[in-house]
Order: sequence, then C-alpha cells, then structure tokens
Amino acid sequence: MAEERSHILDSLALWGEVHADPTDSVYALLFSRYPELESLFVMDTDGGVRGSMLQQAFECIMDHVGEKQIAYSLVSTSRILHEGYGVPAGRFDDFFGVIRDSCRADLADKWSDAMDMEWNDMLETFRGLL
Ligand code: HEM
Repeated sequence: MAEERSHILDSLALWGEVHADPTDSVYALLFSRYPELESLFVMDTDGGVRGSMLQQAFECIMDHVGEKQIAYSLVSTSRILHEGYGVPAGRFDDFFGVIRDSCRADLADKWSDAMDMEWNDMLETFRGLL
C-alpha cells in the first residue's frame, strides 16, 4: 500500500521554497498577536533561544508526521517547563498556530484545504497532550 502523503510536509516544502528562513516572520507574527510575550525574550540578545525554540517546534512537527517517537513527550514536558518560564497558560500551544499561520500566509494560493485540515488535526493533538 502506498504511504499516505503528508500535506503538512508538502506545505513545509513549499514554504522552504518561498522563505529560506522563516524565523523573523514567525516571531514578528507571534509578537504582533501577543505583544506581552516579547518581554519574555529580553535576555535572548542574539536570538539563540528563539532559533532553538522554532527548531524544536519543527522537530515536533516532523516527528508527528513521521515516526511519532518524540513529539508527544517533548510537547508535554516542554509545556510544563514553559510554565516556569512565565509563559501564560494556553499560550504555549499558540506557537504552533503562529507557525501554521505564517506558513499559510507565505504560501498564499498554494495553501490547500487538505493542508488546513492536517495542520488543524496536529494542533488539536498537541493541544490535547498534557
Ligand atoms: C508562545 C509560546 C512560547 C513562548 C512565549 C515561549 C517562551 C520561551 C522563553 C521565554 C524561553 C527562554 C527560557 C529561559 O531561558 O529562561 C523559551 C525557551 C525554549 N522554548 Fe519556548 N516558548 C513558547 C513555545 C515553545 C514551543 C511550542 C516549543 C517547542 C515545542 C518551545 C521550545 C523551547 C526550547 C527548546 C527552549 C530552550 C531554548 C534554548 O535555551 O536554547 N517553546 N521559550
């Protein structure tokens, strides 16, 4: 049986074609939506924390569409760790939503309903991990 195609992977591949490094636009969207979060990163003068965060979020996404070995424990342990970083309850998961929305904005008319559905399912799955 042919392996099922991942629309999330398709969206990330297309995103890579239009945007070599989406870090700045992801954080610009995050801080425009939730300005109160920007002050949490004052110590991150070289952007290293922001870069690692985005990288780990992508690792969770890739693992979710692939092996499903690390994503779920990583999301739930990171969520608890972030309570200690002062991230307001519920905001942790919004980072994945901001990544989805940045990707969707950059893909414009290349974004499909199938991508939308698969991203929504993943966001629901992550949100449900406690
Ligand atoms: C809006 C949601 C989020 C906010 C506001 C946020 C905020 C932060 C802050 C302030 C730190 C620095 C903590 C410190 O060093 O004292 C941090 C670190 C980190 N965050 Fe997030 N975070 C969010 C979501 C996420 C998500 C969804 C992931 C990945 C699944 C993630 C992964 C990480 C990692 C890996 C670090 C450590 C980075 C390093 O020190 O190199 N974060 N986060």
